[in-house]
Amino acid sequence: MSEIIDVCPVSELPPGERRLVRWEDLEIGVFNCGGTLLAIEDRCTHDDGPLVEGTFDPEACTVECPRHGSLFDLRTGRALTLPAYQPVDAYRVLIEGETIKLEV
Ligand code: FES
Repeated sequence: MSEIIDVCPVSELPPGERRLVRWEDLEIGVFNCGGTLLAIEDRCTHDDGPLVEGTFDPEACTVECPRHGSLFDLRTGRALTLPAYQPVDAYRVLIEGETIKLEV
């Protein structure tokens, strides 16, 4: 069963920004792609690279793994380039009032 957790106020995550959220044993990156909030697991499927620390392209809605350069689609979690080929988990982001929330 899923749970809804608070991330931060909307004003703290403007377009082009990202943030790491820790919840239990999960680490999730929340990204603002030009006003659309998207979230993926912060662990590359190739070798556990920290995706939130990678190069974020808000226009393309992608992040590049800082470890070996795989590109991930933030909308789906899909790996777009090798060496990673399996997707990362993607999470639903909600806005309630002035607060960004995540369904985990
Ligand atoms: S750990 Fe991400 S591409 Fe290798």
